Amino acid sequence: MRDTTVLITGGAKGLGRLFSEALARSGARVFITGRDQAALDEAVETLGASGLVIDAVQADVVDLAAMRDVVARIVATGGGLDVLINNAVESGPIGPTSIVDFDAWWHAQLVNLGGPLIAAQAALAVMNPVGRGRIINLVSPAGLHRWPYATAYSVSKAALVKLTENLAAELRDTDIAVLGYNPGLVDAGLTRAGMELAAHSDDPWLMRIGRWAAKARDEGGFTSVDVAVGTLVRLARGDADSLSGRVVNAEDDIDSL
Ligand SMILES: NC(=O)c1ccc[n+]([C@@H]2O[C@H](COP(=O)([O-])OP(=O)(O)OC[C@H]3O[C@@H](n4cnc5c(N)ncnc54)[C@H](OP(=O)(O)O)[C@@H]3O)[C@@H](O)[C@H]2O)c1
Repeated sequence: MRDTTVLITGGAKGLGRLFSEALARSGARVFITGRDQAALDEAVETLGASGLVIDAVQADVVDLAAMRDVVARIVATGGGLDVLINNAVESGPIGPTSIVDFDAWWHAQLVNLGGPLIAAQAALAVMNPVGRGRIINLVSPAGLHRWPYATAYSVSKAALVKLTENLAAELRDTDIAVLGYNPGLVDAGLTRAGMELAAHSDDPWLMRIGRWAAKARDEGGFTSVDVAVGTLVRLARGDADSLSGRVVNAEDDIDSL
C-alpha cells in the first residue's frame, strides 16, 4: 500500500491499534487519532520500536474543527488523504432501554454516528476535489441484528449502515467508495473489555451480555483477529470498491460478492 495515506480514528487501542499496525506493515502512511494522548504516544513509540512509522494526532471525533485540522495536517505532510477508516467508538450504556440514561445513550449516537459523519465531511473536503478516495465505516453485528440491553450501540451502528448507503449513493459518480465493514465479534477491544468487566461485575445486564459474548467465543462464534485485520486491509487497498454502499463482513469472500 505504498503511496496510500490512511487516517484511522481511534487507532491507538483495541481493533484500531491492530488495524493501524497491519496497515503500516503493508506500507501505508498511517495517521491515527484518539482523545488519550498517552495512548497515542505509546502506540507511536511501540510500533516505532518495531520499525513501523505512524503519526498520531489528538482529536475528539465529534469536534469538526479538530478533525478538519487533522486532515489539514495530513495534507500538509505531503500527498492527500486516500482512505478514512471510521473506527472510533463508544460502547454506550448497558441496561434496559426503558430506564437507560438518556444523555449517555445520546452521547453514543454522537460519537458512533456523528463522529463518522464529521470525519467523513473533513475527509471529503480533500477527496471531493480530486474525485477519489475511500471511506470505511466500522459497523458491527449489533447494527445488523437485535442487540437488546445495548441499544445505544446497536442503534448507532444500524444508523451508520444507512449513512454508508446514502453517502455511497451521493458519491456514485465519483471514484470515492464508501463501505461498511463488520469485523464480526473479535477477542479484542470493546468485546474483550466487556467480557472482562462482566466477569468482575454484579450488574445483571453487564453479566448477561458478558455471558452471551463468552458463550459465542467458546462455541467458535468469534472472528479471528487475523481474518478481521486481513479483510480490513483488503478493503483499505481498494479490493471491494465496486461494493460501495454495502457492508462487507470479515469472513466474506470479497472476490465473489
Ligand atoms: N471488538 C469487537 O469485537 C468489535 C466487533 C464489531 C465491531 N467493532 C467495531 O470496531 C471498532 C473498534 O472497536 P474496538 O473494539 O477496538 O473499541 P475500543 O477498544 O473500545 O476502542 C475504541 C477507540 O475509539 C476511540 N474513541 C472513543 N471515543 C472517541 C472520541 N470521542 N474521539 C476519538 N476517539 C474516540 C478510543 O480512543 P480514546 O479513548 O483515546 O479516545 C479507542 O481508540 C468500533 O467501531 C466497533 O464498533 C468491534
